[in-house]
Amino acid sequence: MDAAARRGHVAALFDQLAAGYDQGGVPWFIPIGARLVELTRPRPGDRAIDIGSGRGAASFALLEAVGPRGHVSAVDLSPAMVERLRAEAADRGITHLEVQVGEASPDRLAAASFDVGTASLVLFFDPEPERTFARWLSLLRPGGRIGLSTFGPTDAAWTAAEAVLLRYAPPALLDARTSGRVGPFASTTSMSALFHRAGALEVDSHDEPLEVVLPDALAWRSWTMTLGLRQLWEAVPPGDLPDVLNDVETALEADRGDDGLLHLTQQVRYTTGSAP
Ligand SMILES: C[S@@+](CC[C@H](N)C(=O)[O-])C[C@H]1O[C@@H](n2cnc3c(N)ncnc32)[C@H](O)[C@@H]1O
Repeated sequence: MDAAARRGHVAALFDQLAAGYDQGGVPWFIPIGARLVELTRPRPGDRAIDIGSGRGAASFALLEAVGPRGHVSAVDLSPAMVERLRAEAADRGITHLEVQVGEASPDRLAAASFDVGTASLVLFFDPEPERTFARWLSLLRPGGRIGLSTFGPTDAAWTAAEAVLLRYAPPALLDARTSGRVGPFASTTSMSALFHRAGALEVDSHDEPLEVVLPDALAWRSWTMTLGLRQLWEAVPPGDLPDVLNDVETALEADRGDDGLLHLTQQVRYTTGSAP
């Protein structure tokens, strides 16, 4: 499958997820997007781009930071995500947000035309992350700031639960839990190296914990079915599902706290830099 076909597969996944996306009651994309924007340091009046905007977790934080004199462009491969973001912006009466379907490509957007760019939980879905990141960086003016969020490690119980699903992952699946843990995504050092290879300056990459609190393994399944992780659940043959759920439940029990709830921790990796 070539790169365009693989991106088409990613767009189709997020078209399918768009309706329930981030509606599961678990604070996840919004705190990650808000923290990413904070670390990327947009200023009032900036022209900003949010790449892989989804339903706007980072776009709305960017809009607030750049203020009414600034401007935000949001791009996403998934038409359904873009439609939801457009509707939400209209509901909020926002006029300085431009929303487009597609890639953040220099073929469609002028080089060096943005002061700040974000991509929250996006790059690990791309079949050519090195090349794609260099193209994103070229959209920023010299000294412009770029910030990416990706994932660091999960706690031991969460890792064990995902390992149950990863047994079924199809080869070359583009997902935070497969492609998102290898190569440039493996560590803060390798993320910094990705930025440096593209020519970025003032690079910082570090992990911050995010806790997810859920009652049980079934709630974890319901929530993860609204994420990219749905791809892994869908790869489980129906006949294996009861055993898989049982193994996931056993794994997650190690995170049950004194309050009777599961406390799961994901390290979120924030990497920022500036354009040369
Ligand atoms: C996990 S979601 C994150 C969405 C949003 N940034 C957030 O934090 O809620 C990933 C999004 O990136 C989009 N996407 C993946 N690869 C992309 C690319 N190369 N260019 C633009 N959008 C992309 C997907 O369609 C999807 O909406």
